[in-house]
Amino acid sequence: MMNDTARPITSGMKLPGRGSGQPAHVIVIGNEKGGAGKSTVAMHLAVALMRMGRVVGSIDLDVRQRSFSRYLSNRKRWCETHGADLPTPIEEILEPSAERHLDRAEAEETERFKEAISRLRGQCDFILIDAPGNDTHFSRLAHAAADTIITPVNDSFIDFDLLAEIDPDTFQVGRPSFYAELVWDCRKKKAQREKKSIDWIVMRNRVSMLDARNKRRVGEGLKKLSERIGFRLAPGFAERVIYRELFPLGLTLLDLTEDGSTIPFTMSHVAARQELRDLIIMLKLPSLTGERIPF
Ligand SMILES: Nc1ncnc2c1ncn2[C@@H]1O[C@H](COP(=O)(O)OP(=O)(O)O)[C@@H](O)[C@H]1O
Ligand SMILES: [Mg+2]
Repeated sequence: MMNDTARPITSGMKLPGRGSGQPAHVIVIGNEKGGAGKSTVAMHLAVALMRMGRVVGSIDLDVRQRSFSRYLSNRKRWCETHGADLPTPIEEILEPSAERHLDRAEAEETERFKEAISRLRGQCDFILIDAPGNDTHFSRLAHAAADTIITPVNDSFIDFDLLAEIDPDTFQVGRPSFYAELVWDCRKKKAQREKKSIDWIVMRNRVSMLDARNKRRVGEGLKKLSERIGFRLAPGFAERVIYRELFPLGLTLLDLTEDGSTIPFTMSHVAARQELRDLIIMLKLPSLTGERIPF
């Protein structure tokens, strides 16, 4: 059973078109590790922003896995088989360069990336980029273009290496990681170039609801890291099987009450939606501040 506040906007709603009048805001979901939840977060955030009436563009830069693109194809297929009209982002598909000469390959990829972004900028309020789990030229271009970077980390000390060295006993923070340096470099360049900053948010993902001690320790460690390497910390998403069930259907937590969805809507899903709402609130995205969240 669900109450009215949990009911999503019905499918078939008309997107109002670019409403904010502000330049498109670029959100990059990145960390240099597979399986931390980048594509899952990208998809949920895209659908959440569209359910808030925003036009969203998407780019999947994980050219090996293509999970975000596959998630979107699954969504289109679900819509076709169910005659539904779920909100779906405007997708730009980028192919890596086939050039063998490194400089030429990078120049070609830079051109492709710039063109894709500029096409989306003209149509969208938000551009969501799912970055790959390794260091690529595309990934660097995306981080350099970001207004907001969201880094999901799994709920364990092992994942902290992605951000910086940290002693698990004393929480003493050592050298920042290669990825943290990359983000810092992008921040510095953006500040020089555009006099704007990049907001970097680290969110926990797959937080175990059973291991309270680990949860607390990881929380303390992340707090120390956030002070030292300068990101904001989001509470994040708990570990829930639903995320794996939704992927092949192309659905998100916000689509579960659509006609044709056979997944029952449970209390766990209500809690998961709340986590998504909390993420949106803490992101403080331009033009959304103070707005009622309709799901
Ligand atoms: N909070 C979560 N609870 C349970 N499973 C999750 C959660 N977040 C992601 N997953 C699952 O973990 C796997 C990896 O997630 P994915 O988003 O593809 O990571 P990445 O894009 O960083 O490689 C997928 O099978 C996904 O369904
Ligand atoms: Mg992925």
